[in-house]
Amino acid sequence: MESHLGRYEILEELGRGEMGVVYKAYDPLIDRFVAIKTINLEKLCDEEKDEYKARFYQEAKAAGRLNHPNIITIYDLGRKGDMAYIAMELMEGTELQDIVAEKQPLTIAEKLDVSFQVAEGLAYAHEHGIIHRDIKPSNIMVLRGKHVKIADFGIARMKSSLALTKTNKIIGSPLYMSPEQIQSHPIDPRSDIFSFGIVLYQILTGKLPFNGDNVNSVMYQIVNEEPQKPSALNPEVPETLDRIVAKCLEKKTSDRYQNVNELTRDLHSCRILLSQTNTNSANPGYYFEDAVAPGNRNINTGQLIWAVVLTALLSLGLYVMIDYLIHTTHGAH
Ligand SMILES: Nc1ncnc2c1ncn2[C@@H]1O[C@H](COP(=O)(O)OP(=O)(O)O)[C@@H](O)[C@H]1O
Ligand SMILES: [Mg+2]
Repeated sequence: MESHLGRYEILEELGRGEMGVVYKAYDPLIDRFVAIKTINLEKLCDEEKDEYKARFYQEAKAAGRLNHPNIITIYDLGRKGDMAYIAMELMEGTELQDIVAEKQPLTIAEKLDVSFQVAEGLAYAHEHGIIHRDIKPSNIMVLRGKHVKIADFGIARMKSSLALTKTNKIIGSPLYMSPEQIQSHPIDPRSDIFSFGIVLYQILTGKLPFNGDNVNSVMYQIVNEEPQKPSALNPEVPETLDRIVAKCLEKKTSDRYQNVNELTRDLHSCRILLSQTNTNSANPGYYFEDAVAPGNRNINTGQLIWAVVLTALLSLGLYVMIDYLIHTTHGAH
């Protein structure tokens, strides 16, 4: 393990991905902890390294301009020898993977809140011309208070160019890929919507919609097969959510949601519908606090205003009474 990368002091390993190791590090200049993702360029020849470096900076710069509460912030880029690195916001929470694996069981409302926040982050990035290309649970972090952040915008493109230079074919798991990614067709933001559909399916049911013993079987299913409805696996899933998932997972891009805003609108309506049909919902969730219980919040504010007005009137009354008594006492003398 390196002791330093640029000005960053490497503290511990947080995890490993296909491209390299992710470390927890300390930035003495700003006095904060950061996460540093390293990308190992060792195996590339010099020409490839330069080409890759240019691509790396281009992608990371674009992703670095994204500034949204549901997206992990990129702070800095650097290179040391054969290693390129990205310093970014350190996430201390759980990966969505843990939630999917039911290590932390969530209510349907909470699952929807989490999914909605992913969609919000995606919508913002798409509006800024950035496609994620690798939406999957390990790139989605859930922080305290169920605040969700998406990691690795644009990184997938660096990964695929690295993979292409090395082996000339797609690497990585196809579990969350869209049909167009599998078929190496050009992709647009609707590809992220398909991958989001797979994540949503998994959040709702704990199962993957396309799964199999081997990569080829998964790829075949993604391109050709209809998955079971989520409600068939989890009876708590309402029909509206079945429809939302199905529309994300349409094979033809023209049949899918055409943009994430259409999707967030449907998710939002579904959340409201769910809160109306399930008034016992114990936890309205982080994101929809305002949308779910506006009545309760207004009543509380109203009560507060009345209390202030009444206190003011009583104080005024008391003041007038005391004033009157003082004057009458003085008058009596
Ligand atoms: N910004 C971050 N803050 C904290 N941990 C992170 C951060 N980015 C990545 N990690 C951890 O490092 C691991 C490896 O990340 P990565 O290289 O992106 O691979 P993958 O996304 O395929 O798991 C992740 O699974 C996660 O646990
Ligand atoms: Mg990642």
